[in-house]
Amino acid sequence: MKKKVVSLLTVSALSLSILAGCSSNSADTAADVASSVEEAAEETTEEVSDAVEETAEEVTDAVAGGDLADKKVGVCIYQFSDNFMTLFRNELESYLVAQGFSADNITIVDGANDQATQTNQIQNFITDGVDVLIINPVNSSSAATITDLVVAADIPLVYINREPDADEEQRWQDNDWNVTYVGCDARQSGTYQGEIIVDLGQDVVDLNGDGKIQYIMIEGDPENVDAQYRTEFSVKALEDAGWTVDCLDDEVGNWDQATAQQLVANALSAHPETEVVFCNNDAMALGALQSIEAAGRTVGTDIYLVGVDALSEALEDVIAGTMTGTVFNDHFSQSHSAADAAINYLTGAGNDHYIGCDYVKVTADNAQEILDSVK
Ligand code: BGC
Ligand code: CA
Repeated sequence: MKKKVVSLLTVSALSLSILAGCSSNSADTAADVASSVEEAAEETTEEVSDAVEETAEEVTDAVAGGDLADKKVGVCIYQFSDNFMTLFRNELESYLVAQGFSADNITIVDGANDQATQTNQIQNFITDGVDVLIINPVNSSSAATITDLVVAADIPLVYINREPDADEEQRWQDNDWNVTYVGCDARQSGTYQGEIIVDLGQDVVDLNGDGKIQYIMIEGDPENVDAQYRTEFSVKALEDAGWTVDCLDDEVGNWDQATAQQLVANALSAHPETEVVFCNNDAMALGALQSIEAAGRTVGTDIYLVGVDALSEALEDVIAGTMTGTVFNDHFSQSHSAADAAINYLTGAGNDHYIGCDYVKVTADNAQEILDSVK
């Protein structure tokens, strides 16, 4: 690093003296000389700082890359067919590689929504001697068992997406274990869904003018606390705004588009007075939209629909007005933080036991911007 900087300095010093020399020979004004010198000096400073920055990066890459390239990472995903977790896992893999892990040493497995299958996969990873585990549990209620297995094998553990309960997180803290959770606070996403509706104004949303908001709720898999919080906080945002709500139906759609489509078709035929459809995620909102359209209803005119995640397809619907809004569940930030946490354990830097991130409210105003950023 030193060598590079010194040689650059020498070259720049030389060019400075040549510049100064040329100027005096051609009898330029002192001002010209001064500005040439100033320019050359600026260039030199820029070059030197670029060189320092570049070399520092090279050194960091070499150290980290050298260490990380032979580290084995095991990643357990609760279910590959989940749209959101697919975005998450693809981004996680490419970011891990960008940080210096070898693609051959990253193994990502599909829990197929079955805890017994996933527990087996975890046991296999332990037998294989992975250096770090990143786990999206099938059942967050199994976290204590998973933690015990992994900690006993002395492997650091990063949970993602399905947050274990407070008692479990407290154990990591109390025992000073290398275990953390990376995710966003689902209460925020629920609140944002409710606020998107509130921002339309009660006169607009209360289509039948009875002073109440008739809604149906389509919930995700209760194994993810996101489902529970989004259900609770979306409605709470309406109540906090002083609105009266009337729940016509509340069903579990398990984060799944086809299931939600069926549930919403049934709910709309039983309750044509529905004014708002809340879905805990976009996959289900896309299913809801199919049934809304099949029922001859028009989002933004005679019904309102919100989801969470900001899947590209949902963003396109928000832009087209066929979805009222969604909430960006930032899989970039979450997957990067999860990988960074894994690296911090491997380098000995360690982590807090909870690593959060923010959701972003998405309406027609910013949907294009979010779409551009996720593409
Ligand atoms: C996402 C859902 C996803 C679920 C998986 C949630 O945070 O919003 O789309 O199905 O995580 O656990
Ligand atoms: Ca009403």
